[in-house]
Amino acid sequence: MNLRLTHIAHLGGIRPLGTKALRGKDLAEFPTIQDAFLTINDGKISDFGPMTQCPEDELERFDCTGRSVLPAFVDSHSHLVYAGTREQEFNLRLKGASYEEIAAAGGGILNSAKKVGETSLDLIVSQSAERLDRLIHHGTGTLEVKSGYGLDAEGEIKLLRAIARLNDKTDATLVPTFLAAHALPIWAKERGWNDEKYTHWMLDELMPTIIEEGLARFLDGFIERDYFRMGTLEALLEASKIYNIPTKLHVNQFYDIGAIPRAVEAGALSVDHLEVMSEDAFKALEGSDTIATLLPSCSYFIGIPYAPARRLIDSGTLVALATDYNPGSSPTGNMQLVMNMACTKMKMTPAEALNAATLNGAAALQLEEHKGSITIGKDADLLITRRIPSIEFIAYDFGTNHIEHTLLGGTFQ
Ligand code: NIG
Ligand code: FE
Repeated sequence: MNLRLTHIAHLGGIRPLGTKALRGKDLAEFPTIQDAFLTINDGKISDFGPMTQCPEDELERFDCTGRSVLPAFVDSHSHLVYAGTREQEFNLRLKGASYEEIAAAGGGILNSAKKVGETSLDLIVSQSAERLDRLIHHGTGTLEVKSGYGLDAEGEIKLLRAIARLNDKTDATLVPTFLAAHALPIWAKERGWNDEKYTHWMLDELMPTIIEEGLARFLDGFIERDYFRMGTLEALLEASKIYNIPTKLHVNQFYDIGAIPRAVEAGALSVDHLEVMSEDAFKALEGSDTIATLLPSCSYFIGIPYAPARRLIDSGTLVALATDYNPGSSPTGNMQLVMNMACTKMKMTPAEALNAATLNGAAALQLEEHKGSITIGKDADLLITRRIPSIEFIAYDFGTNHIEHTLLGGTFQ
């Protein structure tokens, strides 16, 4: 689609071609021009600049007076594809049970896995499509989606196929991740397997098919004291090398078991959560290329500490923001809300939050050449806001959807 957006009050997130993930002071700037135009050609951004330089030609125009335009959000950590919901567990937690106690009693991830087993692929796709549609209208253009609620070979493949089907049906860009080690299922415990044995089995059983059918771009595991330990991390890092598939890892949500230094050393693409950090973990991340993906809506929802964003950013760690959208610990996929929480609870500035939710999110999916900024040649995945005084207003005025239109590949959604 060819189109020109005109009279844009604030066009934000402008970056030269080739800009990589931002750190430190660079993260604090969200470069913007006022009273701007932007041209879309064949689904890509082909030109932009101040209205005074807007070409006078026959191209169709869309007037954005009073509106801001920015790159669509890139949510680089989600579990969008699941079956059913878990509000009963929410009730239990409100009565005093902890997230970990509920999980130990067979709720949590095991509860979602049971629902996946009982639900058809078609129904999982249609339930997830409804959620995706809502997210798109809240500004998400690219979304990482993990498997991990299957917990056996059949279930995990079912979820990865559901992600692929959904990807075929949408203008959004879905990036699939094989979450090989999420919780140890009862059938594995009955066989006397420990976490490491289960992980090896899952990887041996599924990786060849996943690679052959292109079902996942990344590999993940829940590295935690009470879930999967360092042996699993080693198994994932080994598979990452063998199959040439980068890792994005759940680490340091409840306990620090030393996963971050090892993951960084092995070149993990991202380490996600980081609510609990040791000095060694901070040190390993400083200046490294591994992206720290922070998930404040999870902290909010299950009442655990917020990740120390300020210290991470100020010490030169790459930081991205994501929703962790899932039925247990973060039932929201709203990136506007996540940016607000990043500011109020983690003391990020709105500009830092905007960068972490766009370009750095794209880098956490190796998509920084195509997504996450206003750059000539990048995909025209764009948000047109309602009438708002500034782009930073999106992170400040919380609880309302500030997005009026989402364009993906230049197409209005
Ligand atoms: O990222 N931490 C592990 N997995 C999810 C929660 C899964 C669930 O409760 O269903 C998370 O928070
Ligand atoms: Fe997660």
